[in-house]
Amino acid sequence: MVRTRLGRLAPDLVRPFISRMEQGRFITLEGGEGSGKSTLARGLATALSAKGREVVVTREPGGAPGADAIRALLVQGDANRWAPMEEALLFAAARLNHLHHTIRPALSRGAWVICDRYTDSTWAYQVGGGGLGQAAFESLNALIDANRPDITLVLDVDPATGLMRSRGAHLAEDRFEKKGDEFHQRVRQAFLTIAAREPDRCVLIDASQSADTVLALALSAIEARP
Ligand code: TYD
Repeated sequence: MVRTRLGRLAPDLVRPFISRMEQGRFITLEGGEGSGKSTLARGLATALSAKGREVVVTREPGGAPGADAIRALLVQGDANRWAPMEEALLFAAARLNHLHHTIRPALSRGAWVICDRYTDSTWAYQVGGGGLGQAAFESLNALIDANRPDITLVLDVDPATGLMRSRGAHLAEDRFEKKGDEFHQRVRQAFLTIAAREPDRCVLIDASQSADTVLALALSAIEARP
């Protein structure tokens, strides 16, 4: 809702400028298992808040009470508990709840949102890994009017290394880790495809480097996009 007098007179003319002033930044972190996204999220939050910005760190699936309840269904239990389309529907429901309760309110008060996984994970895991059709993916994004990230940092690591890092880290939440090596290779290729296809939005970072190097590369990528 645009509240200025001018806005009431010519809302379509004024809204883009007003929303640009008020909007925060939507940064997403993507990559396979054990690629270091949560370490990077913490590092980015510290560095960006030191510059006086309000930073909201969140993750998917989850990030709001309803979405957290759906998360348990998705990350626990037997690897074949859900088919890719069923997973995509659950991720979309969780995402809409997350957008509604956490991401959109934060962006509209000017906060910088750092989100660990978002729609690219659906493309990599359900489309790339699971074989869900591209049309279903696009329809779900349209249905929930999914916000487009301003910048996406794609952390690339060989699944063998990543799974070694992540296995055992969260025992009850290992449903996707239990999917086979070929599945995780397809997920990696899908992330590489996304990064190559959308260079304006995505920055590919070699996550086999030290956490400090990954953070420095991520910060300079963010600063390079005003
Ligand atoms: P999580 O424990 O958060 O994994 P990680 O620490 O690697 O981020 O579990 C989330 C799992 O859900 C992860 O294996 C990837 C999967 N996932 C999808 O398959 N599709 C999606 O859209 C999202 C957001 C996550």
